[in-house]
Amino acid sequence: MSIQLRVYVPEHPLIKHWLAVARDANTPPVLFKSAMTELGRWLTYEATRTWLPTMETKVQTPLTECDATLVNPEVPIGVIPILRAGLALLDGAQTILPIASTYHLGLVRNEETLEVNCYLNKLPEKFHPEIRVLILEPMLATGGSIMMAMKELTNRGVDAAFIRIISVVAAPPALQKLSAEYPNLNIYTAIIDEGLNSKGYIVPGLGDAGDRAFGT
Ligand code: URA
Repeated sequence: MSIQLRVYVPEHPLIKHWLAVARDANTPPVLFKSAMTELGRWLTYEATRTWLPTMETKVQTPLTECDATLVNPEVPIGVIPILRAGLALLDGAQTILPIASTYHLGLVRNEETLEVNCYLNKLPEKFHPEIRVLILEPMLATGGSIMMAMKELTNRGVDAAFIRIISVVAAPPALQKLSAEYPNLNIYTAIIDEGLNSKGYIVPGLGDAGDRAFGT
């Protein structure tokens, strides 16, 4: 497998812990949702490390003036949860990026054909050319949904180099498709799994992330 884009799997004990909880078939929906929130939080923390634009300034402490670095408020930040499952990562991502705007994208895949359809699109017609965008998509499986999301974003002026994808489990088919089309993309995931079964589920994976998060 030849992958050009950068896929980061942060070596963090909390990420490993919450992944194990999410993978466990005996984890009830309420705990599964907590695990996803935590994964959203820590993966977003890792992803923002080298991505948030900063500006140098000075602040006055109670004692004296000193140099300081701020997140640049002039560069907008967008978070795009891909419904349904991406919503499970949103609470955690928002604790790290409370000032980000959230744009919902509802994509559903036909379980027989695995084709993806968009049923909700709250993206603006055009994005600010400098916008930093975080896509929340816990399962990168066949790549159908994430490729559609990437197209919707790049068609609206988002630079792929400014996009970070937050995923929980990623599989080679999705990574290969993304790499071929967007070699300068960065992905943060808790794990890369072996592959997919005949129904397009990631193995070992964690099952249907949307069903497990919402108890359906
Ligand atoms: N979507 C899921 O929720 N789980 C998978 O394994 C693949 C796609």
